[in-house]
Amino acid sequence: MIAERKDDHVRFAAEQQRHLGGYNQFDEVSFVHHALAGIDRSDASLVTRFGGMEWQVPLYINAMTGGSVRTGAINRDLAIAARETGVPIASGSMSAYFADEAVADTFGLLRRENPDGFVMANVNANASVDKARRAVDLLRADALQIHLNVIQETVMPEGDRSFSSWGPQIEKIVDGVGGGGGAGIPVIVKEVGFGLSRETVASLGDMGVRVADVAGRGGTDFARIENDRREHADYAYLGGWGQSAPACLLDSQNAAIPLLASGGVRGPLDVVRALALGAAAVGVSGGFLRTVLDGGPSALIRQITTWLDQVEALMTALGARTPSDLTRCDVLVHGDLRAFCADRGIDTRGLATRSRSQAHAHAHSHETAHATVGEIR
Ligand code: FNR
Repeated sequence: MIAERKDDHVRFAAEQQRHLGGYNQFDEVSFVHHALAGIDRSDASLVTRFGGMEWQVPLYINAMTGGSVRTGAINRDLAIAARETGVPIASGSMSAYFADEAVADTFGLLRRENPDGFVMANVNANASVDKARRAVDLLRADALQIHLNVIQETVMPEGDRSFSSWGPQIEKIVDGVGGGGGAGIPVIVKEVGFGLSRETVASLGDMGVRVADVAGRGGTDFARIENDRREHADYAYLGGWGQSAPACLLDSQNAAIPLLASGGVRGPLDVVRALALGAAAVGVSGGFLRTVLDGGPSALIRQITTWLDQVEALMTALGARTPSDLTRCDVLVHGDLRAFCADRGIDTRGLATRSRSQAHAHAHSHETAHATVGEIR
């Protein structure tokens, strides 16, 4: 039953990718062009540090699958691409493994194919501490993702109907796997394509969660996927529910914990936009799934290599030596996203002129390494 669901998800998600419109809310974020802002390519570095981790690149393959023969083969292709490009990779939900150990290898090969990579295990927010530990052990995982998917469960015919235990359970997993004071591996809480609000991110921080992945709407839509699995497809009206990744990042500008961004990321410019809005790294699921299904691991290796090259090129043009330097670039917010910001009290004017205020701040600080953007403008 779980194996069938996993195959359904892949089939419907891949189909959805083929019908995604070109436009999403990343298009409502643009950069103010400063013609003298550019730096030397050799000065730009993709390394990103957050939540006690250091990743060589600010891009990762986000949670998708495992638990059936077909999805095991997909995981193998994703793992090979991760190994060859050095991007971190997350497993899909490992509940199928808890239900039947016979499918262990459809997850375990994420580590076997990629022995030295950064690999994340993935469990639901109801998982016991023991299950979370088993998931981490199977993958010798470097971090644990916990997914929040209340809308997906609601529409899923066989989904959960009780959600009140999620918060307390996350705290237990953080204590048991995250090691409370930070001795364990990082616990990352993510949505599955409906976004995390400022209020949710604050709660997660209070629970001791190290990092939150906003996983917003605009790409894979699990309300639609689960609706397609229903006999009468009677939840069609929930398609498009939630906040986009750019909206979430803007909403949580002053979050107490670092943020990852995913959901609807279509190319290098979206990666750079998300980094400029404060993401420490950017994840892709549906788009990369489509690439491996169409062209195997070699196509995904080519795609990721091109994206990383172009992310570094765009950082160079924008005067950003590091991914976090992009948070000093002036960005303009348009359309519905601008209306969202107005209603949530987010200062879009400040974003459009922040390189100046940062230059001023840095002229009065000793952090000379970061002063360049301001100096050359
Ligand atoms: C997912 N996603 C997901 N997330 C999670 O935490 N556990 C899971 O098991 C799955 N399963 C899954 C299967 C498939 C086929 C896809 C495409 C996605 C959600 C995923 O990690 C991500 O949050 C969303 O898909 C939004 O990103 P994209 O697809 O718009 O890049």
